[in-house]
Amino acid sequence: GLAKLRMRLYEMNRETARYYHGILLSPQGSAGMEYFARRGLSPKTISRFGLGYAPPDRFSLVDYLRKKGFSEQEMIQGNVAFASRSGRAIDRFHERVMFPIIDLRGNVIAFGGRILGQGEPKYLNTSDTPVFSKGRSLFALNFAKEHAQPYLILCEGYMDVIALHQAGFPNAVAGLGTALTPEQARLIAHYTKEVVASYDADAAGQKAASRSIPLLREAGLTVRILVVPDGKDPDEFIRSHGESGHARFQQLLDSCGNDVEYRLTKLKQEIHVQTPEGKVRYLNEACGVLAALDSELEREVYAGKLAEEAGVQRTAVLQQVRRLLEKKQ
Ligand code: CTP
Ligand code: MN
Ligand code: MN
Ligand code: MN
Ligand code: MN
Repeated sequence: GLAKLRMRLYEMNRETARYYHGILLSPQGSAGMEYFARRGLSPKTISRFGLGYAPPDRFSLVDYLRKKGFSEQEMIQGNVAFASRSGRAIDRFHERVMFPIIDLRGNVIAFGGRILGQGEPKYLNTSDTPVFSKGRSLFALNFAKEHAQPYLILCEGYMDVIALHQAGFPNAVAGLGTALTPEQARLIAHYTKEVVASYDADAAGQKAASRSIPLLREAGLTVRILVVPDGKDPDEFIRSHGESGHARFQQLLDSCGNDVEYRLTKLKQEIHVQTPEGKVRYLNEACGVLAALDSELEREVYAGKLAEEAGVQRTAVLQQVRRLLEKKQ
């Protein structure tokens, strides 16, 4: 039955994680070890996250798992191997550093594997299996759930999360390479009331941040947006500040604004507000942001701020917001 299969896949994934971790710590894993050392990971971090290395061979994991009593069919179903033309199982991951993904009960449910140098795909991930649904999991939530107060930090990548944990922010989690899903937003909301989204500072990351805001709000979360300076991601930021990485990231956490402020700031960057037409356009679009808020109190507060900042009457802003609201109905 399905329950039996799932149990087998959990066991197989655990053996797989153990295997890749053992390889990483052995002479055969030196390329992986050097890679992680270059990226600033300590031995303690490597062992806490159970990181590993998949060797270049075609059948190393398959041979190992067979000796442990797993069938090739199970390996293929669990997506740690794929079937060759002849139907024979071949290791899915080759010459990659390995990131096990662990669920809330401590089961290894999937893997991400990163190529050591340049090349595509940069990350290869387990496809959905009977024990893994990408859109319903968050990387490192198994650790972060104990540290979810007062907020969780949501970032994009495995390495962002690991660098943050190592720097003393054990409340960081990441999605798994796809756009945030409503299930993931609800999962976060199950553990905390507030989330700080800290996506990559590049265009793709900022777009992802903007898209995640309504999902996080709908899950009932208070949302703040941390924009990492200098076009970096959290991992690059922390590493570039060495010993003061924790303090510098803490400053960003302490000073970052909420989602409404983020959206208004973005608008202001996009629109040339120095001209009267620009100012009108900015005010109109900003009123659009306020009209999308579902609390009258929030609309009042931000209307006041916006009016003050733009040097117009607060009633004019509120009137425009109301007009937009009526149009929506
Ligand atoms: N990702 C993926 N497949 C890819 C590229 C990215 O699944 N081909 C996912 C990974 O979970 C990755 C995240 O999206 O961690 C963010 O992507 P990106 O910013 O490109 O990578 P980084 O996490 O910054 O990776 P690194 O620092 O190792 O280069
Ligand atoms: Mn990115
Ligand atoms: Mn990165
Ligand atoms: Mn990144
Ligand atoms: Mn601190």
